[in-house]
Amino acid sequence: MTVSRRKALFGGVALAVFARTGAGRAATSPYRLTLYRDPHCACCLDWVAAVEKIFVVEMITSRPLAEVNKQLDIPYDLWSCHTGVVDKYIIEGHVPPADIERLLRERPDNVRGLSVPGMPIGAPGMESPDGRADPFTVLAFRTDGELRTWSRHNGA
Ligand code: CU
Ligand code: CU
Repeated sequence: MTVSRRKALFGGVALAVFARTGAGRAATSPYRLTLYRDPHCACCLDWVAAVEKIFVVEMITSRPLAEVNKQLDIPYDLWSCHTGVVDKYIIEGHVPPADIERLLRERPDNVRGLSVPGMPIGAPGMESPDGRADPFTVLAFRTDGELRTWSRHNGA
């Protein structure tokens, strides 16, 4: 990221930042995940509850998500309700924590991040009270613009 882009992204605004660790437990990963989210969206917090068992999560709610997504150059079709950044990777939407851990372990060439587009019922943070879970796919998006299947989740 260029200095001017970084300035546009982080400069000028007093950011509301909240760092949390899951229920007082130490996160198991050395990585910190920065999460941009809409302050009025509740499912993000349900996703955070799953993710912060592994990562320290720092939440930023003071910037419109669409603006963040455009600046991070996330393909529009992949947008969801929240956007995470961990190490150099973008984590878009309700991606299962185990998939994030695998990305940080395997670090495949040319992958910019992972996405679960939309808000599939049954993904972490999208659990349904009646136990319904739809199948969903985690996509890896690449520097060359290609999308690859990263993992499939079968639902219930
Ligand atoms: Cu959501
Ligand atoms: Cu969300």
